Amino acid sequence: MIGIIGAMELEIARLREMMDEKKEEQISGVRFTVGSLFGRPAVLAVCGIGKTFAALCAQTMILRYNPEMIINVGVAGTLTDGLSIGDMAIGSFAVCHDMDTSPLGDPVGLISGINMVEIPLDGQMREAFEECCEKEGVRHLSGVIASGDQFVDSGERKAWIRNTFSAIACEMEGQAIAQVCYVNRKPCAILRSISDSADGTALDYERFKELAAEHSTAVLARFLRSEEYC
Ligand code: ADE
Repeated sequence: MIGIIGAMELEIARLREMMDEKKEEQISGVRFTVGSLFGRPAVLAVCGIGKTFAALCAQTMILRYNPEMIINVGVAGTLTDGLSIGDMAIGSFAVCHDMDTSPLGDPVGLISGINMVEIPLDGQMREAFEECCEKEGVRHLSGVIASGDQFVDSGERKAWIRNTFSAIACEMEGQAIAQVCYVNRKPCAILRSISDSADGTALDYERFKELAAEHSTAVLARFLRSEEYC
């Protein structure tokens, strides 16, 4: 079974429509939809905004459905000139930009306990998504995705996240899902379509989030439809 988590309804709604033999279950306030997507067993969930809800959803999904892998889809702000609105950011690593125990001598972003800043994401799925983007004609870039409980909307914060973590995109859930997957030894992928430039043009987000969600759904659908992957 493949697990798919989006933060918002619009990131998951189209996939839910495409799903056959649907069954719904509400656990800890999260709506899980189980069924078949292009003939593959899958579970979909809308986790809500931010890292706490994302972690709750990922851990619940693992305990309840035990998916072989989890894919986090959705939208993100770009941190680089190499990614514009509508393009796809594919995660190679996930970092938490608002985790900071540096007063204790740690590097900024260190996740204590597992002692790492960059959580590795699944390389095979990353390559598969790169191929799917090519086939869908969607521009893409792979790299570090930075998550935090903050909608990034200033040039200063954007530059700080990019320079501190060499990150290409920012969002609010991916790292939490990746961290939960890491401790549960589950492969995880992050696939995010760019909705805004994260630097004071938040209105772009309202204008482009639907288009961005459509792109990530199209790439994910291509991935699920193909015999080559999974
Ligand atoms: N998701 C989409 N755009 C974002 C931004 N600028 N900051 C955080 N999360 C986002």
